[in-house]
Amino acid sequence: MLARFAAVAATSAMLVFGLSFSPVAADDTDPEALVNALNAVFGANPGKRAAHTHGFCVKGSFVPTDEAGKLSKAPHLSGKGPWPVVGRFSMGGGDPAAPNGQKDNVRALAIHIDLGQGNQTDMVMISAPIFAAKTPAKFLELLQTVASKDKEKIGAFFAANPESTRQKAWLNARPVPASYATTPYFGVHTFTLTNAAGEKQIIKWKLLPKAGEASLTDDEVKAKDPDFYKPELTDRLAKGPVEFDVTSILGQPGDALDDPTALWPDDRKSVTVGTLTISALEDDATCDTNMFDPTNVVEGIEGPENDGIFKIRSPAYAVSFSRRNQ
Ligand code: HEM
Repeated sequence: MLARFAAVAATSAMLVFGLSFSPVAADDTDPEALVNALNAVFGANPGKRAAHTHGFCVKGSFVPTDEAGKLSKAPHLSGKGPWPVVGRFSMGGGDPAAPNGQKDNVRALAIHIDLGQGNQTDMVMISAPIFAAKTPAKFLELLQTVASKDKEKIGAFFAANPESTRQKAWLNARPVPASYATTPYFGVHTFTLTNAAGEKQIIKWKLLPKAGEASLTDDEVKAKDPDFYKPELTDRLAKGPVEFDVTSILGQPGDALDDPTALWPDDRKSVTVGTLTISALEDDATCDTNMFDPTNVVEGIEGPENDGIFKIRSPAYAVSFSRRNQ
């Protein structure tokens, strides 16, 4: 398990002592520069996340299926459960008032699964199967270009990097989710699961809402308060828990492993590995005094080896975390 608090403490110390932080990334992008660039686009909001700023905390549990243990020896997949969960739903971007009805923005769900004895593992997902940049350097360039507000430069960036247009196009081709409970969530990166016999399987996480996918028309969105997801979920939870099927999409030889802007073909088989149940809202402080870290995985689950975006997320989140807790 990743020593997350050690990583956060180390990054804080580096910020305090002005040491440079060397990410284990495929390029030399500085995680602090990425957070500064997010702030340049969305504004710095003291005490708040640099990204996914608009959100709220929830709690629930995770129960694995019998199939899960055949794929991975991770305790929450091979054990019985229920495993307690703390989670956070959010809108993408660093706007603390990001409207819930914005079509070309991602919805997101991040969870800590409590494995007992102070251990936890995380999943940090968005409502699109792809990210907006292939590498940290490209994401930095994208953010800095958008921050310049120079329309010509912005147009030239997207013309030169068509893979960075795919996420927005994917979102624009779909209606606005009616609820945080009625959209799928994707882990985006490739993970390798290893079972007790040492067998390995490449997968991508996908959560499917048990309530089904439900959406709003553009006119329905216009009639909504910009902050409608929290009251909607509060009403929904008063009637009963919200559930998701947690699935592993099974990769095949030739599928892109290290490119978070690449889609896998639609016909890939998937296995349901468990049920995530969200039972109630939780104090935001429970989510804010901690950070959700996609690299916080346990034995039996490994992240991608050469995906620079995956590798830089943890150090970038640690910069945001240490700044918002100063
Ligand atoms: C280089 C690429 C990325 C950068 C620089 C970045 C940056 C950030 C930052 C600074 C935060 C706030 C962390 C905190 O204060 O706790 C954050 C949160 C988040 N990011 Fe990213 N991110 C990147 C890629 C991704 C990708 C690929 C995904 C999709 C799976 C993603 C999903 C999320 C989610 C769901 C949160 C919210 C977690 C929460 O609720 O606390 N990010 N990101």
